[in-house]
Amino acid sequence: MRLDKHLHQCLGISRSQASLLLRAGRITVNGTIAKSGSLHVNEQDVILLDDNNLQAPGENLYYFMLHKPQGYVCANADANHPSITQLFDLPRADELHAAGRLDVDTTGLVLVTNDGQWSHRVTSPRKQCEKIYRVWLAEPISDDTSKQFAKGILLRSETQPTRPAQLEIVTPREVLLTIHEGKYHQVKRMFAAVGNHVERLHREQIGALVLDANLPEGDFRALTAKEISLF
Ligand code: URA
Repeated sequence: MRLDKHLHQCLGISRSQASLLLRAGRITVNGTIAKSGSLHVNEQDVILLDDNNLQAPGENLYYFMLHKPQGYVCANADANHPSITQLFDLPRADELHAAGRLDVDTTGLVLVTNDGQWSHRVTSPRKQCEKIYRVWLAEPISDDTSKQFAKGILLRSETQPTRPAQLEIVTPREVLLTIHEGKYHQVKRMFAAVGNHVERLHREQIGALVLDANLPEGDFRALTAKEISLF
């Protein structure tokens, strides 16, 4: 496939926009700056825009955003609860998995795919991909919680403190928390560590990808090539 066609598929940009990126020297193919859109590329080539990997969606690879409702598990099998894969009325839904899990009672954004390499990039601790959660609390937030989270706190049975996290206070019992890692039950454990309790938890954002405001709970939609290339 021609490089400019590949750029069009990954980024949703026109041929002339692709040639601007190429002329600016921002596209590399296997480590070499590519200047021409007519260059032939294939699936084995590593194509980067600046430092971002541009992988065109393969023929049998699927990528979705799901608005997870309560009561579903992100694992593919569970004795007590239905799996999120049951929300996908697609022929090969059993091949899908969550790129980063939510607890059974947590709602919000889950990325769902059958591309293991892609989900690894979403969840890899090295990438420190940010996740934004809306949190409803049992107790009004204490004055010093923002500072404690910004410094990092040691959770029970962990040896390393949490990475600096950012807290935005919406009301005394409703906050937005941004974390850059994904330890087990991390948000609930962080609030437990400062003497509070999470009553309801909803994920709004993963990296630059925000849950569509008009996507009803239980519904999903395919990601665009541009959204897939964010990771
Ligand atoms: N942190 C939690 O405690 N639960 C989730 O579902 C996600 C993050």
